Amino acid sequence: MSMPVRGVILAGGKGTRLGELTRVTNKHLLPIGEFPMVYHPLKKMVGAGITDILLVSGTEHMGDFVELFGSGKDFGCRLTYRVQDEAGGIAQALGLAELFCKEARSIVILGDNIFADPLANFLSLTSGRPNDAAVMIKQVPDPGRYGVAELSGGRILSIEEKPLKPKSDWAVAGIYSYPPDVFEVIRTLKPSGRGELEITDVNNHYVGSGRLVSWEMTGYWTDAGTLSSLHHANDLVRREPPRFS
Ligand code: DAU
Repeated sequence: MSMPVRGVILAGGKGTRLGELTRVTNKHLLPIGEFPMVYHPLKKMVGAGITDILLVSGTEHMGDFVELFGSGKDFGCRLTYRVQDEAGGIAQALGLAELFCKEARSIVILGDNIFADPLANFLSLTSGRPNDAAVMIKQVPDPGRYGVAELSGGRILSIEEKPLKPKSDWAVAGIYSYPPDVFEVIRTLKPSGRGELEITDVNNHYVGSGRLVSWEMTGYWTDAGTLSSLHHANDLVRREPPRFS
């Protein structure tokens, strides 16, 4: 019998890079094309058949997400919500999903990641590999803004978070797939220089144990966490709507 799959959307954080746009609202509620940003990861998951989804956000705007999605029934899924009290990092936010994802594979999407490819192919990457983790990667002109993968023969040798001198132009996107032991890995992490539990440290753990596989995205991908990337994301989806299934 295959492992159950749970979706986790991370929509916490401070959104400080968006200035006045996030003075009274949450970054993930800003528009990308015809939808609020957070619809994109949710629709990707539902389109790939993931129906049990946890949304993590801070206290300030959780009520808005509940008002938007409710139980999830109008969106074809069952939603659970968890509060991240402080923006202690992506891995800390994921740690809140432990009970929800017990004995399941966790498919995690950062709420500000916008991409064209459907999720289904990525899910199939780890079928038959129950102990492996997976990341989506994409060549970008500005890798220093992201986690950057050093690659050899298609395998990831290491990942560096926002390196000053990137070893490649392959960014690690905010779309991840983890086996159930990810929560044990998170418990071993120490805060980084920026005071956060880093998802890159989680991914490097799987690199170290030879259990990280990667998927090269074919369509566009961007984050939408800065003014210029928010505009870029809108241009991309207007030109070519993302595929949800
Ligand atoms: O977009 C992909 C990149 O996302 C990766 O290449 C990096 O390795 C990864 O660290 C991350 O980098 P950012 O610095 O751009 O992440 P940011 O702090 O903007 O957070 C991205 C999303 O994660 C944000 O939309 C909400 C969620 N988040 C973030 C933090 C820090 C949380 O839910 N809680 C948090 O505490």
